[in-house]
Amino acid sequence: MKVDLAALVQAPSFSIKQLNATESDRASAMSLKVGGIYANFARQRYSAADVAALFAAAKQWDFHGALLRLMGGEIVNPTEGRAALHTALRGVPVETAVSIAANKEADAAQLKMRELYEELAASDVTDIVSIGIGGSDLGPRLAVDALKDFGPKRFNVHFISNVDGAAAARLLPSLDRKHTAVLLISKTFTTQETLLNGELVCDWLDTPERVYAITTNADAANEKFGIAAERILPMWDWVGGRYSMWSAVGFPIMLAIGPDAFVQLLDGAAFMDRHVVEAEGVDNLAYWHALTALYNRAVLHCASQAVLPYDERLKLFPAYLQQLVMESLGKSAQLDGTAVTVDTVPVWWGGAGTDSQHSFFQALHQGTQVDAIDFIGVIRADHSADINHQALLSNLFAQSEAFANGQASDDLHRNYAGNRPNTMLLLDSLSPSTLGQLIALYEHSVYLQAVAWNINPFDQFGVELGKKLANQLLPAIRGEVRAEDPVTSALLDQVRG
Ligand code: F6P
Repeated sequence: MKVDLAALVQAPSFSIKQLNATESDRASAMSLKVGGIYANFARQRYSAADVAALFAAAKQWDFHGALLRLMGGEIVNPTEGRAALHTALRGVPVETAVSIAANKEADAAQLKMRELYEELAASDVTDIVSIGIGGSDLGPRLAVDALKDFGPKRFNVHFISNVDGAAAARLLPSLDRKHTAVLLISKTFTTQETLLNGELVCDWLDTPERVYAITTNADAANEKFGIAAERILPMWDWVGGRYSMWSAVGFPIMLAIGPDAFVQLLDGAAFMDRHVVEAEGVDNLAYWHALTALYNRAVLHCASQAVLPYDERLKLFPAYLQQLVMESLGKSAQLDGTAVTVDTVPVWWGGAGTDSQHSFFQALHQGTQVDAIDFIGVIRADHSADINHQALLSNLFAQSEAFANGQASDDLHRNYAGNRPNTMLLLDSLSPSTLGQLIALYEHSVYLQAVAWNINPFDQFGVELGKKLANQLLPAIRGEVRAEDPVTSALLDQVRG
């Protein structure tokens, strides 16, 4: 159902500071604790009445029905005729024949991952090189970086994604080819970057039997790299690349943190799946998150959404979210093929605090554009530098307050307008479980935003044109043909000298 949010919710007439001073109990009324995540939305610009209108809109959009369709395995990706059953990789939050069957396949794949883990752990392999890009890289890279202190630390896990050969040229000299195993991760096994890097690294490696593939396209893995079936882990059409870290695509995560911690990561996500499908209205964290994003775009016209994790271990989270959110929601066609009539996704970006404070925060505080912000903090540190952790948290809370409340000065140079909307998400601690909960929360928020905008969050045709042109231009780069486009032609002249 089409709901015009901008018409439903008026442009705000009170500042965030005024709202928090006048609306009784706002700081607790606009907060909730779900599992290991506390969320506070009181520093958003909507009033309590606006929130009621937003949740009424969620009913009209039938968020609950949409989640049932997603988790039950219906075709929610109509342009490709596919389900999007990433929730079945970690449980069965909605029981249907389709979701139960998918979950069984996922469990079988996980068993095989464990077997390969044990096999590698019993070998003399010390290092793993994971080769993949986009959804076949960002989730594992994030989870390995965030959680590498958990588990048995049996392997050093490295990643290569960019087609730029500099990445491999830097990494390989630091490794011993006799003690290295390689994972080729590609849902399609047609991705240029992964195939080229795969060839490069496999040529360097001594032992071809230490190459593993994770793919839906086992034939190509076998034909192109001679990888035998027992060293191929499955992927499925019903899992989108950017939703796939819970599948065998997460094998680098299992290798880095061990099978038990990997299961805890999945269990954390499964907990969030059950929450979003069971919790009603204002008790539902994903509803809050999605409605806030929709409000900030439709009513405040925020052109960007910053994600600012105040935990060094989550520094890759913004990069992970960029694909999850922008590849999913960067659409201008509705499900029926007609043009969308409202703005869809803003630019998502970010960086870790406190480093970011000394970089781009100036623009967030005093720039002419108002951006939406998600702060992410971790209450309990896993190190003993208490004073550092206290400083980290005081900076986090100070920034949230400064963005919201500002500080008036007659000197415009020293004036802080404030009124910068921000959400605070606090994890009890950073663990495989809370990371799983956090990522699943964003996955569901993305899906619900897509439901509201009536777009398909599971296709990504926008990336195809560039890939096609790059393939066409390869012969021109080699000097075999001339480019038709005059600007490209001028660029090629520079390359040829
Ligand atoms: O960037 C486009 C894309 O298709 C992503 O959606 C995907 O995660 C990535 O390329 C890698 O694709 P594959 O896993 O098939 O190599």
